[in-house]
Amino acid sequence: MGLLPWQRNSRQSTNSQESFLENNEGSLVNKKKWSYWMPIFVALVVIGEIAFLVRLDTAKTIDSVSNSFSEAFDSSSELLTLRPWTTSTSTSATVSISSNVGEGVVAEADVSIDDGESCEEWLERVDAVKYSRDFKENPIRVSGAEEEWKSCAVGCKFGFDSNVKLDAGFGIPQQAGTASILRSMESSHYYAQNNLALARRRGYDIVMTTSLSSDVPVGYFSWAEYDIMAPVQPKTESALAAAFISNCGARNFRLQALEGLEVKKIKIDSYGNCHRNRDGRVDKVQTLKRYKFSLAFENSNEEDYVTEKFFQSLVAGTIPVVVGAPNIEDFAPSPGSILHIKQLKDVPSVAKTMKHLAENSDAYNQSLRWKYEGPSDSFKALVDMAAVHSSCRLCIHLATVMHEKEEKSEQYQKRPCKCTRGSETVYHLYVRERGRFEMESVFLRSGHLTLEALESAVLAKFKSLQHVPIWKPERPESIRGGNKLKVYRIYPLGMTQRQALYTFRFNSDAAFRSHLESNPCAKFEVILV
Ligand SMILES: *[C@@H]1O[C@H](CO)[C@@H](O)[C@H](O)[C@H]1NC(C)=O
Repeated sequence: MGLLPWQRNSRQSTNSQESFLENNEGSLVNKKKWSYWMPIFVALVVIGEIAFLVRLDTAKTIDSVSNSFSEAFDSSSELLTLRPWTTSTSTSATVSISSNVGEGVVAEADVSIDDGESCEEWLERVDAVKYSRDFKENPIRVSGAEEEWKSCAVGCKFGFDSNVKLDAGFGIPQQAGTASILRSMESSHYYAQNNLALARRRGYDIVMTTSLSSDVPVGYFSWAEYDIMAPVQPKTESALAAAFISNCGARNFRLQALEGLEVKKIKIDSYGNCHRNRDGRVDKVQTLKRYKFSLAFENSNEEDYVTEKFFQSLVAGTIPVVVGAPNIEDFAPSPGSILHIKQLKDVPSVAKTMKHLAENSDAYNQSLRWKYEGPSDSFKALVDMAAVHSSCRLCIHLATVMHEKEEKSEQYQKRPCKCTRGSETVYHLYVRERGRFEMESVFLRSGHLTLEALESAVLAKFKSLQHVPIWKPERPESIRGGNKLKVYRIYPLGMTQRQALYTFRFNSDAAFRSHLESNPCAKFEVILV
């Protein structure tokens, strides 16, 4: 069976991720190779320089035709024919350097630099890609209930229209050229088909689950749904904790944990069907506010599976005692703000901590400090993801995959992506904020190819654009911050949110440089906080 065009693409992007990880690890080996090739490299540079000087002479004589060259470059499709190594018309590709001669301008790809044009201007021009589809005219189309996501960064329309081919549809199979999507917020411990690896094996092209490793995560959390910064209320109940557990039979140890806490003399008011001792017909969040602790016991202990039980506890300003996701600390509003029963044997020590906090109001208040001072950057960066609706993020994902595919065509594979002037090389990078679609150009210089320089360049770029973070209107006012932009993470485009938020870091400037070398015109996504 032939691969759908965009399937091929998604595999390619996976490969490129893997390859740069390997590159990081293989940098030592690379160094050895370099020392071996160094003499040859030096010889090549010398020969190149001689050739360059000879060509400058020619350039002076054809100065007058430089304008027609630059016109030709406006159409990116003609870029190819102007490249000496690609076609037999190579003689026409003589560099049209005129007034820049004194500065010794070397365009990497040997294509013309206009009078007085900087490397940056030149790169912006020659690296530009003319994408075949205009998503404003021709939005991403996904099956499902009729809906147009008007505020989405890319044209995005759900619904059926017999005249238009769908880009993606929910379920399998889909017709050729239409990506198949699995979307579910259920735990894969109950619905095995939601397991990421299994879904991929079954042939789903795009997976949307609570897993932050899925292509387009669908979480229970968002600023809009939960008033997370709602003020703390006085704790007036005599019982230490409240529980709303409706199903006692769960595929984890939550029932035993509940019983274990009771054995340790933790007084629990239970409003759910399970061990009920209070009338359950109450407003859950309003009720939770009166308790010091809330038993946020999920029905399965699955990574990233964190439901409203947890987020309602945060709204209520009660300390969640969690049985659930092994990585629940990733979802904590600040360090030390939640209690986690990882295994049944943790129950006695958690019970002890609960008693200690209940009896020491300062220590208890300390656990809720985030309510007064704001949550951690890590928490903001996580919840901000949901500032863009998952349907819009799906459209952005689809459109990005299409763009990446077009950039892989032969024509664009030969974009210069860097420009050398004298002893300095300017690198062309692209960046966008998470949740947006269009990429912006950023430039780094060979003398400053560092992570710090990347961050400053990104900030300078967004500042010059008067960029407003995408989460600005979504976050509660008290934690929106001022107008100063702050970078939380910068990561290669195409990474999962699990990688972006928690597991990936360029561990050195060398690793970053090696990424740039193996990914010309490298694209990044940035999370601002
Ligand atoms: C808890 O701490 C905050 C400041 O962090 C303070 O404003 C508040 O009054 C304290 N509450 C109690 C009950 O001590």
